[in-house]
Amino acid sequence: MRIAMIGTGYVGLVSGACFSDFGHSVVCVDKDAGKIDRLHQNIMPIYEPGLDTLVASNVKAGRLSFTTDLAEGVKDADAVFIAVGTPSRRGDGHADLSYVYAAAEEIAAALTKPAVIVTKSTVPVGTGDEVERIIARIAPDKGITVVSNPEFLREGAAIEDFKRPDRVVVGVEDEASAEVMREIYRPLSLNQAAPVLFVGRRTSELIKYAANAFLAVKITFINEIADLCEQVGADVQQVARGIGMDNRIGPKFLHAGPGYGGSCFPKDTLALMKTAADNDTPVRIVEATVQVNDARKRAMGRKVIKAMGGDVRDKKIALLGLTFKPNTDDMRDAPSISIVQALEDAGAKVHAYDPEGEEQARPLLPNVTFCTGPYEAAEGADALVIVTEWDEFRALDLKRMKTILNQPLLVDLRNIYPPQLARDAGLEIVSVGKPA
Ligand code: UGA
Repeated sequence: MRIAMIGTGYVGLVSGACFSDFGHSVVCVDKDAGKIDRLHQNIMPIYEPGLDTLVASNVKAGRLSFTTDLAEGVKDADAVFIAVGTPSRRGDGHADLSYVYAAAEEIAAALTKPAVIVTKSTVPVGTGDEVERIIARIAPDKGITVVSNPEFLREGAAIEDFKRPDRVVVGVEDEASAEVMREIYRPLSLNQAAPVLFVGRRTSELIKYAANAFLAVKITFINEIADLCEQVGADVQQVARGIGMDNRIGPKFLHAGPGYGGSCFPKDTLALMKTAADNDTPVRIVEATVQVNDARKRAMGRKVIKAMGGDVRDKKIALLGLTFKPNTDDMRDAPSISIVQALEDAGAKVHAYDPEGEEQARPLLPNVTFCTGPYEAAEGADALVIVTEWDEFRALDLKRMKTILNQPLLVDLRNIYPPQLARDAGLEIVSVGKPA
């Protein structure tokens, strides 16, 4: 199959690289000439484990190429994927679809033969219908159809998620398009037996939002249970294990922590709320989740201050991990931003280390001192706070930490250390959802 991928952000680049790895011929298109230039030099615009080698090998094999010229990129395509951004619109939380519609117009004008336009961007229910109207206006006789195919990959595990998904969701309204999509995903369903679920286009669009909102609810639920655990002397990790063994609940996304962040859950929950409100069907559980999660991120700063005795003026605090989760350099809506703000507002000096996030973090956290490693950050600090669970923080030399910290306090917001292990090393530890 000949595939064009419009947009080389997270979803576009990973999907394009993976499709080419399946043997399809893929052209990735982006308006940003600098980005395309760098991709030609195999410099990735994002940090994603394994992506550079995957791109390099498929470029070398002649299956993957990059261009800024949309018309050239799409002209022979069997399928054109739209994977441009859908940020929250300022003011009302609705997804901003201007990039999607602009792409649809350009594609419709450029296509020279029948093709399927596939929205991979996360788009509200009804966007496919609007794209169809755009095409009917610009290119009514070219035989172009519109399909929804949402993406469920996670940053940091994107290639694995793409190649071994739990399912692929395809929203189609006609059999010919379904056949093209079957062909595109055939390598995946053959090797890994990943089910490809065919549904209506609107259903497919809603599945994406419902999935992300449900996961956000699940995380927020266990976070509230964690707070309760602290009050009643229970252990949230054991509660999560105990409930997760029930197949109806499942063990995943039950890790209590400082609240969810990232480019998807915050944006998609807001957009779902907006769609629901517009249709007079409020999603109150999602509304509560958004409120609870926002409050939680702020509360985490207060948790650190409380652990330090309530007064952090002129204290030095070492923060490990700033990105919204490990294996990414993404700082969007990261809990660390609220935590740093709360600590600095209370007069503390924050020294931080993140394996990949420093460049994105610097402009957001202008008063933070950035360090080159966990021990440098901890030197002389009055508390060591783990905010993001990068693997390299999982086996810190806690005895060494005890000797270099000014106060032997570890605040573990990701529960990566069994409290006894820290205590054995002479550290006082405050975890999330554990008995004091
Ligand atoms: C999320 C979804 O997991 C993907 O399926 C989806 O495709 C993607 O959004 C998207 O819409 O593009 P992502 O935002 O990359 O992926 O990251 P997650 O691994 O889902 O983590 C999101 C946040 O939840 C992180 O801040 C993480 O620390 C937090 N989290 C996750 C928890 O606090 N506890 C958990 O148990 C799991």
